[in-house]
This record gives sequence, structure tokens and C-alpha cells, in this order.
Amino acid sequence: EQSVAVLFSGGDAPGMNAFLRAVVRLGLNREKIAVLGIRDGYRGLVRTARAVNDDAEALVRLKNDIATHTGRAGLISEQLHIIQMDHASVSGIMGKGGTILGSARCLEFHDKKVRDSVIKLLKSLNVRALVVVGGDGSLTGARLLAQESDLRVIGVPATIDNDLQFTDMALGVDTAVNTLVWAVDHFIDTARSHRRVMVLETMGRASGDLARMAGLASGAEMIITPEAGPLNEEAMKKLAAKIEGAMTRGRGHAIVLVAEGVEFDPPQKRNRAYVLMDAFQQYFQRAGAPFQDLEVRPSVLGHLQRGGHTTPGDCILAARFADHAWKTIQQPDGGSGITALRKNVVEIVPYGEPDMPERAAFSREMEQLHDDLSSW
Ligand code: F6P
Repeated sequence: EQSVAVLFSGGDAPGMNAFLRAVVRLGLNREKIAVLGIRDGYRGLVRTARAVNDDAEALVRLKNDIATHTGRAGLISEQLHIIQMDHASVSGIMGKGGTILGSARCLEFHDKKVRDSVIKLLKSLNVRALVVVGGDGSLTGARLLAQESDLRVIGVPATIDNDLQFTDMALGVDTAVNTLVWAVDHFIDTARSHRRVMVLETMGRASGDLARMAGLASGAEMIITPEAGPLNEEAMKKLAAKIEGAMTRGRGHAIVLVAEGVEFDPPQKRNRAYVLMDAFQQYFQRAGAPFQDLEVRPSVLGHLQRGGHTTPGDCILAARFADHAWKTIQQPDGGSGITALRKNVVEIVPYGEPDMPERAAFSREMEQLHDDLSSW
């Protein structure tokens, strides 16, 4: 019997579990096709391929294990990396962050021989399509698998960074922005009470979109993003002067969001929030400055941005991506591709699709809107 396999790769993102639930339920209810869940992303496949590809008996044992350890039984058997999912195995997981199947970054997958071994494994298990859920690197792996085999490989964008320029939104972004707004709300309490400047470092890799969206949604006073280029001493002084100016006009506190992709000229080893704290503090304390006792506190928000309860927006997007993944898999002449949200329509776009100019425009618009909404 043919099946469809699904794996989660790279950094976990909220919405992965909601996607798993949707892809499994649609498979069982609507398409009547078994869904295999792969544990620990590509790494799970690589390890399994290594164990069974040249060992006929091991392959028979694996097939037997998959057939007998269905759903929950498969999930609790830690050694098994390939699990036949059932209704109950995805029950109650929709809003949970992370991924119940686990995820991993798998450097070995850069090696074509390793990818070939995975293709061989999937073929011996009669898998007709593979669904890969993850960010940039994971989708590159998916593209290579699609190019190097006749498997259908469907990519699904999931990353809190929102750095994939072919889709308006990736899974996880909405939840991460929500979490950042929650975090900013907490920092505002102290910032207001102590009349402080809080510098908060957000994730996002080389992209400033997460910081921008969080800034717009939380009302944080300042957003510093990598797209503006590296910050030198002069640029940091200008930012500090902007904060000081706002204080002069009666403002009592400031929340500054700095994206982790921001670089400095000359380069700095410390976290951005700390570098900015020192630069701002030094500026505020210069001789004759009006707010010499203005304190700055840094915080690196880190992985709290990746976890937590998934928002309804991400759950809905997950269901729509799963629906589209299935529709593509079931099209007799449909090939491989990635699910993308464009102008609120879910489409399948080919791998290697060029950047949408609308995405850069959207980023600029958000930044402008943030400035226009500012009371500074
Ligand atoms: O891609 C998601 C992300 O959270 C980035 O924002 C961050 O730079 C990176 O992953 C952190 O990776 P890790 O969890 O491996 O430390």
C-alpha cells in the first residue's frame, strides 16, 4: 500500500503540530491514504536508511514495526523513526508548540550520497510523496530530493523568521509575533516604573521582519533591523539622540527591538542588546547631557519566541497548507513544489521561485507605518 510521509526539519515553529494534525486527518478522512510520520526530520530518515538499506531482514523488520506500532505505540517507541499515524496520535496537539515528531538540523543531508540513501529507503517503503515542513535550509533539502528523484516532494514553509520571500507568511510567524507582543507588554511595566530604556533582541536570522511585525503590533518605540546595514558608532549615537529627544519632549521610557541579524561596524562579539546598551548609556551620560540617570537594560529574548501556544491564525494557515499539499499530491500530473500564501491565497510555487518584490515592499511599508504611528 502506498503512503505519504511527513517530516519536520530545522528549528521548530509553532503551527507544526497543527499542520501534522491536518495532514494526517486529511489523509485518513478525505484521501484514504496512510500517513507516515518521520521522527527527527531528515536525521530520522538518514539513520533508518543506514540501518536497513543493505539489510533485507532489517527492512522486513522495519516494515513489520511500522505496521504493528501504529499511532501512539509508534510514538512511544523511541527507536522507531517512522510511525504510521492514526487519528488518535494527532488528537489534542493542534495548539501545542514544537513538534511531537521532533525536528533536527541535519548537516549530513548536504551529501548527495546520503540523500540517495534516503530516496532508496522511501522507495522500498512505497512512499509516493514526502512532505517537508521547515525553513530555508530544510526546503533546500526538499528541492534537492525532488530534483534527484521521481518522488513528489512538497515543501511547507515554517519558520518564525518569516525570511522566505516567496510567501507572505510562514507557519509560526503569527504565534512568535504574539509572543513578542506579550514579552514587550511585560518589559513595558518595568520600563514605565523605572523610566528606563529596554533593549530587546529578537530572533529572525538575517531578516528584520519578525522584529518589524512585533514592533508594529506592540507599539515598541524603536525597531532596529539588519536591512538598514551595519551600525557604526555614529549611527548608534543618532539612535540614542532620538531616544533622548523623545525624553526631552516628555516621554518617560522606551522599548527598543533589535533584530539578531543586525551587524556592527566594526564587528562586535557580544549580543546586540548589550552592545546597544553600552552605546546608549555612554551617550546619555556624556558631559552636560539632560538625562544622565536614564538607565538602559538589555534582554536577549531567545527561544521563548519559538514556543508556546499556537495562535488561531497559525492553526488556520496550517490547515490550509495541509489541504493544498494534499491537492498537489493527488493531482495526477502535479509535480513537486512549496505551499505559499500570496495575497491570502494558498498556491503551490516551484522550488527556487524568485523573491516576490511585494515582500520587500511589505517590509518597507511596515517600517514606514511604524514610524508614522510613533508618538516621537
Ligand atoms: O530559524 C529559527 C531560529 O529561531 C532563528 O531565529 C535563530 O537564529 C535560530 O533558529 C536559532 O537556532 P537554534 O535553535 O539552533 O539555536
